Amino acid sequence: EIPSLAETFAGYFPIGAAIEPSQTEGLKAELLKKHVNWLVAENVMKPEAIQPMEGSFNWTNADRLVAFAKENGMEVRFHTLVWHSQVGAWFFKDAEGKPMVDETDEAKREANKKLLLKRLDTHVRTIVERYKNDIHSWDVVNEVIEPADPDGMRASEWYKITGTDFIETAFRAAREAGGPEVKLYINDYGTDNPAKRDRLYELVKEMLDKGVPIDGVGHQTHIDVYGPTVDSIVGSMEKFAELGLDNLVTELDMSLYAWNDRRDLGNDIPDDLLQKQADRYRELFEAFRANKDMIGGVVFWGIADDHTWLNSFPVTRTNAPFLFDKQLHAKPAFWAVVDPAGQA
Ligand code: G3I
Repeated sequence: EIPSLAETFAGYFPIGAAIEPSQTEGLKAELLKKHVNWLVAENVMKPEAIQPMEGSFNWTNADRLVAFAKENGMEVRFHTLVWHSQVGAWFFKDAEGKPMVDETDEAKREANKKLLLKRLDTHVRTIVERYKNDIHSWDVVNEVIEPADPDGMRASEWYKITGTDFIETAFRAAREAGGPEVKLYINDYGTDNPAKRDRLYELVKEMLDKGVPIDGVGHQTHIDVYGPTVDSIVGSMEKFAELGLDNLVTELDMSLYAWNDRRDLGNDIPDDLLQKQADRYRELFEAFRANKDMIGGVVFWGIADDHTWLNSFPVTRTNAPFLFDKQLHAKPAFWAVVDPAGQA
């Protein structure tokens, strides 16, 4: 009988996993019940899944996940109210069905912006009102920073049509619909990268100064065996903690491949690579433990190597980013995390 991750970290922070509703059954469900306190929807709470067409809300899958969590005493994080991906194209079309971004007439551009913010406001309020008592914390906006784009803001349709107003509208609507209790996060990847971190910091600071209700920063933490450094990951959290914000690790996984590597190792993953992964997971969780006061929770973007987006990104191949293997057995990385002083 192996130790429980959730119990191991009980004095530090909750442990979570992102899942699809289909994983709430069978052996996967048992693994989750044993090891995690938080669940996140890998896909079924994204804008496109919840409101595929204007005014038509689809709650079935999201409800299933919430019900499973409740039955098992787990909490749910909501991912995500706003994103540039997996969002219905209808959001960004005007009354005639024309893409809002193509509009050149100034008055019509203003009208489009109003319409889009109104749609966003409705989306956010409808969801938050339904789930406010079931959700532990909310990813309000996801991946809005892009240092390579103009102003360092991702040149999404949201940004092109509204500037940063969509961010403000989303947070304010969530707070108004959810009340003072709901915890609201801005979530992004690569927050260890200085350019990205600093632009995110600047945005968050500007929003807080305007009274926009942001409670914390979600650091996705999609990393690999080679980088980035643990210091840069924790260093970024320190910056946001200084603003009085909570930090969450929201989408942790550790690819076996460097970011520009396109090889496929297949199913015979070398032992020394699994050991390297274990050592890095050990170092990472040691740093998380040491900084528990500024980390509100650690969520993996999956739970076992049989199900991970990294098996299809950036190419289709075998990856193995988690603490449990395809057979749901504990890997060297699991032991490195639960027993850092051991010989694992
Ligand atoms: O739902 C359709 C299904 O109807 C269709 O038959 C099937 C065929 O490909 O596709 C299904 O949609 C897939 C969807 O996952 C649900 O399984 C999409 O193709 C696929 O692109 C999508 O990938 C998700 C990805 O976000 C989309 O960008 C991954 O599962 C999910 O892990 C990933 O999660 C993101 C976070 O939301 C944000 N941060 C990065 C993270 C990893 O990319």
